[in-house]
Amino acid sequence: MANLRLAVMISGSGTNLQALIDACRHPEYPAEIHVVISNRPDAMGLKRAQKAGIDAVVIDHTKFEDRETFEEAIHTCLKDHRTQLVCLAGFMRILNADFVNRWRDRMINIHPSLLPSYKGLHTHARAIEDGVRFAGCTIHYVRPEMDNGPILMQTAVPISADETEESLAAKILPLEHQMYPAAVRMIADGKARISGGKVVYSDTDLGDKGLISPLL
Ligand code: GRF
Repeated sequence: MANLRLAVMISGSGTNLQALIDACRHPEYPAEIHVVISNRPDAMGLKRAQKAGIDAVVIDHTKFEDRETFEEAIHTCLKDHRTQLVCLAGFMRILNADFVNRWRDRMINIHPSLLPSYKGLHTHARAIEDGVRFAGCTIHYVRPEMDNGPILMQTAVPISADETEESLAAKILPLEHQMYPAAVRMIADGKARISGGKVVYSDTDLGDKGLISPLL
């Protein structure tokens, strides 16, 4: 079967993008990145894309009159690259419901918390402040409400007594890098689908499916 055609949308350093680029280098990996879109011209991730020979496109939100025309430009770019799955990886703009619904069930996001807890920014600091015992990261299908939608995968890590925002981020980010390629592979292999607003998995040989945890 042909590889799943990916677009990755970023705003910053693009370490998750890098994890996907690295995964796609393996000949048996069932997906390939056709375009990287950044809303910020200075995003480090653009360089990662260029280095990998991937089309790196800047769609700078500050150059557009409103959110609708900005999103129309993104939509056109995604269509032009015949995108089958959009991967948001540190893309820091809110997307309108119209855009999100056009890519419904074909767009996923990674968020550094155990959703539905700690949507939005400063997730690690808020989790530590609340004294919760576990933090983690989530990959979910995108719905119009921010950091919301059917959950595809989660990874949990314990929060230590002396945890800081930085130490927690340093624990979680490498897990994000493991999880994103695994989640994309699951979709590309047709092993995950949405039913009744939740993700269901089509076979059982994935073991700890939905939860890749160093605790297991
Ligand atoms: C990651 O923590 C991701 O979960 C969040 O933004 C960060 C992006 O990091 N959505 P990077 O640009 O992939 O390095």
